[in-house]
Amino acid sequence: MKIGIIGSGAMGSGIAQIAATAGHDVVLIDTREEALAKSKSNFESTFSKLIEKGKMTEEAAKTALSKITYSTQNDLLKDASLIIEAIVENLDVKKKLFSEIESIVSDTCILASNTSSLSITAIASACKKPSRVVGIHFFNPVPLMPLTEIIPALQTDHAIALQCRDLVKTWAKVPVICRDTPGFIVNRVARPYYSEALRIYDEGLADFATIDQAMREQGFRMGPFELMDLIGSDVNYAVTESVFSAFYYDPRYKPSITQKKLTEAGWFGKKSGRGYYNYAEGSSMPSPKDDAALKTMISDRVITMLINEAYDALYLQVANAEDLDLAMTKGVNYPKGLIAWGKELGLETVRQRMQRLYDFYNEDRYRMSPGLRG
Ligand code: NAI
Repeated sequence: MKIGIIGSGAMGSGIAQIAATAGHDVVLIDTREEALAKSKSNFESTFSKLIEKGKMTEEAAKTALSKITYSTQNDLLKDASLIIEAIVENLDVKKKLFSEIESIVSDTCILASNTSSLSITAIASACKKPSRVVGIHFFNPVPLMPLTEIIPALQTDHAIALQCRDLVKTWAKVPVICRDTPGFIVNRVARPYYSEALRIYDEGLADFATIDQAMREQGFRMGPFELMDLIGSDVNYAVTESVFSAFYYDPRYKPSITQKKLTEAGWFGKKSGRGYYNYAEGSSMPSPKDDAALKTMISDRVITMLINEAYDALYLQVANAEDLDLAMTKGVNYPKGLIAWGKELGLETVRQRMQRLYDFYNEDRYRMSPGLRG
């Protein structure tokens, strides 16, 4: 089966690597020759490292490398069975590309987008045969992150979504099916991890280091602030803003002014040397407060808001319970799935905590999801 991948940036290259390793012929397309050359040299060094570590044989690496063709010409996609688009995140540009590609490929070729924030339904509307368009959303870095969200658009033939789900399973990925809604699963359900932490900070209840440690103590690999510094506060802020506007400004997704200020200052996190923390040489990380009661308050509040969000996604049929939990454990390494976590705590406890937050703040942001009512 030949796979066409359009866009050879971080995501397209990662997808090309796993597809070629799985034995597919891959055509990797980019408008920029230099992007293709960079991908090629990155593959060579990645495969060499895998060989050194004993994770791949020399033979397998040679075969995988030989499976990838690099080109700036879309015509090479004509006999592909599946196209995965991973170009710039712009709806008009993607729609134009999908319409062009449709005139090149066969009638049975599946057209997928790796978009993380655009509507698959809107992308599909650019095609004559929108029933073949689907979202296949990988996570960065693709070779390491198992989760893949499969998103049928309103027009998608469901059998095509299932076919894509089965295919990515053969690439050692963990697929989940989700409705074409803003943020899909992960970028929607994870929002309170950042926003509630920021709110706790904004209220002066705790500093970044204490909030981060409180969450790490609950089994999260990274606290919200160190994670935002790793992702890039600019990137994280853009996702929050896009989810907020896509939900017609639902206050539950309201971005934080603190994060906006950081973005305005160019304090993006690790990549810019400064974010919530200072990464300049010689600077030391601040120490968290040794206050068990404070840390319990922080983690209870953040986890309660996360569980509320997950139960809301379940209630609104974004995905089923199993897929919601797989998404958070395999996509963002949460220590437990949030649906299971809610059951473990007891939904009555979660409801009481939500009610207390709502009673105290009297803000719609803290409204309880009907999904928690059981
Ligand atoms: P990138 O900026 O690293 O790469 C995009 C590549 O597409 C560039 O090499 C560019 O030259 C090429 N390109 C642009 N227009 C093109 C066209 N019309 N035809 C062919 N090539 C074209 O972007 P990245 O980060 O790889 O993201 C790509 C897509 O994946 C976006 O839709 C993004 O939202 C999505 N995504 C990104 C994730 C991330 O963490 N970076 C995670 C999941 C999805």
